[in-house]
Formats: sequence, C-alpha cells, structure tokens
Amino acid sequence: MADDMIVDSVPRSLSASQKGKGKVDLNNGRQVKGGPWVEKYRPTSLADVAAHKDIIDTIDRLTGENRLPHLLLYGPPGTGKTSTILAVARKLYGAQYQNMILELNASDDRGIEVVRQQIQDFASTKSISFGPKVNVKLVILDEADAMTKDAQFALRRVIEKYTKSTRFCLICNYASKIIPALQSRCTRFRFAPLDPANVTERLRYVIQQEGLDVTDGGLAAIVRLANGDLRKALNILQSAQMASPHLTEEAVYLCTGNPMPKDIEQIAYWLLNEPFSTSFQNITKMKTSKGLALVDVARELQPFVFTINMPPTVRVQLIDALADVEYRLAFGTNEKLQLGALLGAFTRARTALVAAAR
Ligand SMILES: Nc1ncnc2c1ncn2[C@@H]1O[C@H](COP(=O)(O)OP(=O)(O)OP(=O)(O)O)[C@@H](O)[C@H]1O
Ligand SMILES: [Mg+2]
Repeated sequence: MADDMIVDSVPRSLSASQKGKGKVDLNNGRQVKGGPWVEKYRPTSLADVAAHKDIIDTIDRLTGENRLPHLLLYGPPGTGKTSTILAVARKLYGAQYQNMILELNASDDRGIEVVRQQIQDFASTKSISFGPKVNVKLVILDEADAMTKDAQFALRRVIEKYTKSTRFCLICNYASKIIPALQSRCTRFRFAPLDPANVTERLRYVIQQEGLDVTDGGLAAIVRLANGDLRKALNILQSAQMASPHLTEEAVYLCTGNPMPKDIEQIAYWLLNEPFSTSFQNITKMKTSKGLALVDVARELQPFVFTINMPPTVRVQLIDALADVEYRLAFGTNEKLQLGALLGAFTRARTALVAAAR
C-alpha cells in the first residue's frame, strides 16, 4: 500500500453536490474567475480571514497541534464562519481535502436518516495514513440550525462514538437552535458582526485588486449599509460599480435604494417643524420621486432621533413608536396609514417637547 493512501468507501456524491450559499470551490483554493466576488474573494487560508483575530489564532493553534475539538461556530450571516472551517480543512489535509471532509448544508437532506446513515458511514470508515501525523476526518454541518430536533438528538451518540476518528463542526446563525446536549459537546466560537475598520480594509483590498474607482464617501456608505456583513458589503460593491464606474456615496445609496443621510435629515426636519398635512405631502412626494420605502425611512430615522437633543421620556416614546411602525410594515401593511402613524408619533413628541419646555 502506498504512503498516505486512504481506505475509504464512502461515495463522494454528497460533498460534490453542494448547493446554495455555502457553495465553495473545492479545487484546493483555486479562485473562481469572474462570477460573484463573494466567491472570488473567499479566504483560502486562515490568515486571509478578516477580523476575529482571537478565534482564528486559537483555531490555528489547535489545528497546528492536531488537537482540534468539536466546533460550534455561530453568528450572523457573512462573518466568515464557512470560510474559516474550509480554511481549516485545507490546512489540515492539503490535497487530500476532498477525501477527508463531509460537508452537508441546509440544501442537502439532513433528516434523521442522513445522520444515521451517511454521517455514520463516513465517520466509521477508517482513514489509514502512514504519514507522520494521524489525521482525523472532519464532518461539517453547515446551517445546522435548520436540522430537525430528531436529527440533532441522533447526532449526540454519533459524535461520541466516533470522536476518535472524526471531528464535527456545526455552523449556524442561532446557537439557541442547537440542542444543549450538542452544544456541550462542542467548543463554541461566536463570530460577531465585523467592525467597520475590518470591512473597510477588506473592501480596499478588493477595490485595489479589481482596479476600481471608489470615493471615500462611497466606501464609507457601503461599510455603513453592510452593517458588519462582509458578504453584503461585497455584493453591494459589485452591483454598485456595475451601475456606475465612478462610485460615489450617492451612487451607492441610489443603487441599493436606501435613503441618503441628507434625505433623512430633510424628512426629520419636516417631521419636527412642519404641520401634519405639509409633512405628509412632502414625504409622500419624496418617496415617489426617489423611490424610497417607508420601512427604510423608519429604520434610518431611529439613529437620527438619538442625535436630537430632547428629554429621555420623549425620546423613549418616539423610539418605541418607530419600532412599532417598522414592525407593522414588516407584515406588508399599508404605507400611507403607517406614514400617518409615523407623523402622529412625531406630533405627540412635539407636543411633549413644548410641554417640557414650559
Ligand atoms: N471574516 C471574513 N474575512 C474575509 N472574507 C469574509 C469574511 N466574512 C465573510 N467574508 C466574505 O463573505 C463571503 C461569505 O462568507 P461566509 O460564507 O464565510 O459567511 P458565513 O459566516 O458562513 O455566513 P452564513 O451564516 O450566511 O453562512 C465569503 O465568500 C467572503 O468573501
Ligand atoms: Mg455559511
């Protein structure tokens, strides 16, 4: 038997048929030409992963010493969870990558049968390596919060039984959707939303690689709209630069259909100073001419309210009312009625302000 030969009878169809957002180019880090930038600029090594220094360092050390525990990576979308574990797999196995991992995501069937059969089959076949280090295999369960409770319960025993030869990595957005028994078997790492400095740095890198013309204002606007989601940032950058090669702040807001900060300032001015009917007409006119959605306006007004000087009680009521408007709009209610409610909230706040000033 040749060195490093792997005895493994599991059909590879599962990891080869990945679909959906977790889809990754498995050809050992060969970058995807053309196509969406989120895939083109997916980090191939742990060093490429932006932010999360502590987590990456810890995982890097554990993989280096071949002491990888079972992992639970969780956090909001687009923060690098899938990218991190794939970089780990590349580091651990190099060219043998595809033989040593089983990746299942929400687009694959992961009911109780899959856990019982495929994962067990994969985990129970021994990988015989004659190299210096004994490699354990890796089962990656991406979007694990979409797994049924039954499947999660079935996984408990499977994890324990095959700990010797296999490591499991569960990835999800909400750790609370993973049953406590599974959580306690894993080392948890939370991927927080990326901070603006890290998003800016990564975007600068892409801008330089692609040779784009983006103003500072445009870059700041993308970072602001992305809200710590690097996938979203890259998607905005790609679509906005197609729409306008010279990317300014205005172009970014226009392309994404978000209200400009100066529009919000204008709307807030009307809300706080003009009579009810004038505000109603002005805002309606602006919404039609600029194609704004009321839900975006309500969301952007909220941070603005924090910057206006007013007594805390008035502010609290206003924020509460804005949240209600946003909540109702999320269910597709009538925009006109909700605009009325928004104006009503500000009218009440104005009355309270006048009373407080006396
Ligand atoms: N920390 C990061 N460093 C570098 N690139 C990142 C990072 N986070 C996200 N990205 C970019 O965003 C894309 C999506 O990242 P990834 O698939 O790792 O997100 P995720 O955390 O798994 O999100 P989801 O919860 O939606 O599955 C990557 O292809 C990469 O281009
Ligand atoms: Mg993912």
